Amino acid sequence: MSPPRGRVTVVGAGVIGLTCALRLAENGFNVDIIARDLPSDEDSQQFASPWAGANWHSFPTGEDERQCRWETHAYKKIWSLIPSGVAMKLDAEEYFRSETPPPPLWSKDLTPNYREMFPNELPPGVTHGIAYTTWSIDAPKYIKWLQSRLESLGVNLTRATIQSIEEPFLHPYTDKGLASIVVNATGLGARTLRGVEDEAAFPIRGQTVLIWAPHYKKTLSTNWEGNVSYIIPRPGGQVILGGTYGKDDWNVSSSQSDTERIVKDCLALDPFLAHTHSSNSISPPDPASIPIVKVNVGLRPARKGGARLELETIQVPLQPQPFKPRGNNLNEFAASREVNIIHAYGIGPAGFQASWGIAEDVLKLAEECASGCQ
Ligand SMILES: *[C@@H]1O[C@H](CO)[C@@H](O)[C@H](O)[C@H]1NC(C)=O
Ligand SMILES: *[C@@H]1O[C@H](CO)[C@@H](O)[C@H](O)[C@H]1NC(C)=O
Ligand SMILES: *[C@@H]1O[C@H](CO)[C@@H](O)[C@H](O)[C@H]1NC(C)=O
Ligand SMILES: *[C@@H]1O[C@H](CO)[C@@H](O)[C@H](O)[C@H]1NC(C)=O
Repeated sequence: MSPPRGRVTVVGAGVIGLTCALRLAENGFNVDIIARDLPSDEDSQQFASPWAGANWHSFPTGEDERQCRWETHAYKKIWSLIPSGVAMKLDAEEYFRSETPPPPLWSKDLTPNYREMFPNELPPGVTHGIAYTTWSIDAPKYIKWLQSRLESLGVNLTRATIQSIEEPFLHPYTDKGLASIVVNATGLGARTLRGVEDEAAFPIRGQTVLIWAPHYKKTLSTNWEGNVSYIIPRPGGQVILGGTYGKDDWNVSSSQSDTERIVKDCLALDPFLAHTHSSNSISPPDPASIPIVKVNVGLRPARKGGARLELETIQVPLQPQPFKPRGNNLNEFAASREVNIIHAYGIGPAGFQASWGIAEDVLKLAEECASGCQ
């Protein structure tokens, strides 16, 4: 391993914070993570990662070069984890209702077995389909797996809620000292964090229904003018049915009518979700026959204008009113100095599928800092 290259505090232990921390630690940085929610907090609704699908299903049309680069990197990285059992390979189908065939996906040369589907393969009402091979992961298990990789590299996760971005520069959260670089992977927390206060950060509410369907091994998605349905099997036999895209909706309660609509729409997409369904049955399966494990609501941490990934140099303590510590070992009288923040938040619904690409960019920025900007 290379010699230590500086102390980095990553704020946030969602998939972005964890993956950035892992790439930094693997490359010789001394890394700590502080976070309000830790990977074991599976039921925290302030925390987006445990609620994710999560499969690789790209949203950009190809013009967003940065997003496509992140997603290409993460596609390949997580593909390489399939033999370890952390991720599962599966067939994907995307359905369309349009007169003309949709343009080819930007990812057609990335995902194996990409093809346009034949009309006789499509469910009723669907005019075109695209098939390819992708992967899915069990999001709650995957973030715990990232945590165990980090711990094996000596990276500590500490629970702490910070109010101001300057705190890690002034307050030693571990006995190892103050940060020289802070990675801001706070997701929606970015909206209220002092020194960041990014009003462009907003939630996209997602309600999903987790069912037990170990026989089902195909991921499907449709988007009928904004009505989105998807089916995502996870390793282990659970399947996620979605969904909703409630922009600016902070409501973390689940809605019974959404649950019913989601199950009905997904069964219409593929009756074989019900394992009792046989191919010579004429009547559609009964939604009540679907074993529901859990109804989930998560807030996807989006940002107007796209994810923020950049280096910012700030002066701490923040002026004119320095942060007032709650703890007693905060060095509030510290001499004013310049410090570096790498912002990495606002990825919205694409956190898992972009994570490893974002982490590469964060590593590059940290390396630039370590070798010059101080
Ligand atoms: C992690 O933090 C705990 C509590 O602060 C400490 O006891 C432990 O030694 C730390 N581990 C490492 C690897 O720094
Ligand atoms: C991260 O960025 C957000 C948005 O700009 C901000 O509100 C938050 O305070 C920042 N957090 C840290 C730890 O810098
Ligand atoms: C979208 O869903 C709503 C509510 O279920 C329905 O009324 C509407 O017709 C749907 N729109 C399309 C284009 O499918
Ligand atoms: C949140 O959603 C639930 C379930 O749909 C609903 O009953 C409740 O009124 C909503 N709360 C707010 C503040 O909109």
